[in-house]
Amino acid sequence: MKTGLCAGVLMALFAVVDVTQAADAEAGRSIADRWCAACHVISDGNADSPAVRGTDAVPTLASIARDPNRGPNWLRQWLVAPHPPMPDLNLSRSETDDVIAYLQRMAR
Ligand code: HEC
Repeated sequence: MKTGLCAGVLMALFAVVDVTQAADAEAGRSIADRWCAACHVISDGNADSPAVRGTDAVPTLASIARDPNRGPNWLRQWLVAPHPPMPDLNLSRSETDDVIAYLQRMAR
């Protein structure tokens, strides 16, 4: 009984580690460049870059990232469900995690 419980706890721990490693902020950045930049200004730092195509009409990704009410769970829910006028981006689970990891890195 006891060893069974131990193995269960260990497996749960490994699962957590797996998820953390799967989220890749760099991959999230290229996803954001490709899929979010059309509408969201990505950062204050790249304002001179021709790649910046975002508009003032939507919150910048940096301001979303810094909003304490927009934590990882909130972002995941936002990104998995369609939110007109924002298009359904059809991100996979791991792409969603990457984008969230990128936003969290931006918030620091
Ligand atoms: C076609 C334009 C468009 C694209 C592409 C887009 N968004 Fe949005 N997004 C919007 C609009 C417009 C809103 C505001 C919606 C509203 O307020 O109801 C929004 C809102 C959001 C919000 C909620 C902000 C808040 O504080 O309420 C998040 C988070 C978000 N977008 C993340 C993303 C991410 C991440 C991507 C790329 C994977 C992305 N968006 C791509 C247009 C877009």
